[in-house]
Amino acid sequence: MNHDLKEMMRGEAEFFDQSALKRTAHGQIPMEADIRRATRFTPSRLGEELVDPKMTYILEGKYRDRFLDTAAHRRGGKVLEVCCGPGWLALELGRRGQAVDAYDISPQAIALARRMLEENPYKEGFGSVTYHLQDVTQVDLGVNTLDAMVGWSAYHHLPNLPDFMERAYRALKPGGVIATLDDLPRGRLEKWLERILRLLLPTYDRTYREKLRAAYLRITGKTREMPDHFTPMEELAAKDHAVFEIADILYEKYEVLFDVRWAAFVSTPVMQIKGPDWFRYSVARLLVVIDRVLCKIGLCKGFLRIIIARKRARETT
Ligand SMILES: C[S@@+](CC[C@H](N)C(=O)[O-])C[C@H]1O[C@@H](n2cnc3c(N)ncnc32)[C@H](O)[C@@H]1O
Repeated sequence: MNHDLKEMMRGEAEFFDQSALKRTAHGQIPMEADIRRATRFTPSRLGEELVDPKMTYILEGKYRDRFLDTAAHRRGGKVLEVCCGPGWLALELGRRGQAVDAYDISPQAIALARRMLEENPYKEGFGSVTYHLQDVTQVDLGVNTLDAMVGWSAYHHLPNLPDFMERAYRALKPGGVIATLDDLPRGRLEKWLERILRLLLPTYDRTYREKLRAAYLRITGKTREMPDHFTPMEELAAKDHAVFEIADILYEKYEVLFDVRWAAFVSTPVMQIKGPDWFRYSVARLLVVIDRVLCKIGLCKGFLRIIIARKRARETT
């Protein structure tokens, strides 16, 4: 591995170490560590992130369940998770009886994942999960060894993606499943709709006075839009290109079972809605339906995309 790549990986690991520490700073369990035990956390200061498992379920639960159920298609299946972070996905697959090997390069994320595994109270029918602190691109994936390979906001962090995807293809058994979630670049319309929602909805992050002031500064050109933020490895892997490259590879080599793109503008404003729960969840459900309809009829493009594909029984070359 060359020096630059090593440096980028070190930067990436530090970035996600910080993220794991920040998201457990108040003793809370974040969603990315265990979606069943995640503790609800309401921010009291700007910059803190709200954790609300029920709201996350409204936003993505239906598709997340489909992802998990399809990945666990074979009883006691052998699954590899790419870039597992603090481990929620491997843990859920373990709870579905799968034997999972999950890889990440962030020591803090892996430590948190291992702690969650140890504390896991959902033991009935549990398969096995092993978290590895290791660069997944250096793993010998073998040939016809896996029933599934999964990655949640993962594959687009890898350098030399075509090479990894080629090895992934060989490692999957015929009929094996590969699944990915990626966040995609967002268009101007979607960004504007998100801004309008954030302005109109009562949210935790700002008062209406602060929002109006921020809107005034934007309109008069006194503040600028923040550029998109990439992690070091997303930068190196050219994320905005990689997310489409993954889709091209899956469509070319596999039989695509499921492909959905959703959440054009709702995710951030909806997570932040302030008020009693009945109000927050009702508004969220309504906005999620509107967002999905606009995505379905092609007026908006979703920010999140899940693709699930199956290796054909007979190989194509
Ligand atoms: C956006 S996070 C996603 C984490 C997790 N999949 C989730 O759903 O929360 C990307 C993860 O990729 C990890 N990562 C980046 N490059 C990696 C590599 N070459 N091998 C293993 N993990 C890597 C990072 O440490 C980080 O935890």
